[in-house]
Amino acid sequence: MSDISNIVILTGAGISAESGLATFRGPDGLWEGHRVEDVCTPQALARDPVLVHRFYDARRAALAEVKPNRAHEALARLDAEWPGDLMVVTQNVDDLHERAGATRMLHMHGELLSGLCAKCEGRQRWDGPMLGEPDLPFAAPACAACGAAAIRPDIVFFGEMPYQMDRIERAISCADLFVSIGTSGAVYPAAGFVRTARYHGARTLELNLDPSEGSIFFDETRMGPASELVPAWVDEVLG
Ligand code: OAD
Repeated sequence: MSDISNIVILTGAGISAESGLATFRGPDGLWEGHRVEDVCTPQALARDPVLVHRFYDARRAALAEVKPNRAHEALARLDAEWPGDLMVVTQNVDDLHERAGATRMLHMHGELLSGLCAKCEGRQRWDGPMLGEPDLPFAAPACAACGAAAIRPDIVFFGEMPYQMDRIERAISCADLFVSIGTSGAVYPAAGFVRTARYHGARTLELNLDPSEGSIFFDETRMGPASELVPAWVDEVLG
């Protein structure tokens, strides 16, 4: 690994699976009993805000029941000890990387613990539910900055632009090593990062339970649970 200085790591739902959080593309094609287009699009939020808020309130509440696993912990150790550049780009909206101690990371698909104002685009930390009393008519929570009743989950819905794409693309273009962990490679633009990394000359490694849609694009693919593969790989990298 002596020729490696800059590392970019992409994580997906598979890294949090062993903490007890469901992945998106299960065998029934449903996500926690819902079709993604019913809960994860701007149209769904406009059509049925109560359903969408109830769904994300439940996901947010579930965070209290889970904790980081050995894969998150290993990446946090890499973050603390790696002397070169490192960026962990997660597609996950949970906070398990941070709770494990990661700092050099960003959430490209948003965060459950954040509320986004649809009016002024301000953000505020959001720990509890967004839905109010069940017997009152629905009203979105008020924004602390502008006062508008327009707070929504700070989640990148289908059809919306993922966050911090410029920063991510800059990091990938300078990467010596690109590693993808626990993601199916089904959702763009994240699914295209491996090809961008290769184009710029990075080595590419995939750590995933099963072959993914993107496996063929990686120089190397290792199959197995993240809680085993990631700590072993981090030991290798840190020597
Ligand atoms: P998926 O559910 O599509 O894929 C999860 C991947 O993790 C699969 O390839 C599994 O084989 C793998 N996996 C499952 N358990 C694992 C384990 N214990 N160890 C290692 N790998 C494991 O989830 P993502 O690829 O993250 O977007 O989905 C991408 C995006 O689709 C999500 O960020 C979400 C969704 O729509 C938004 O919410 C905006």
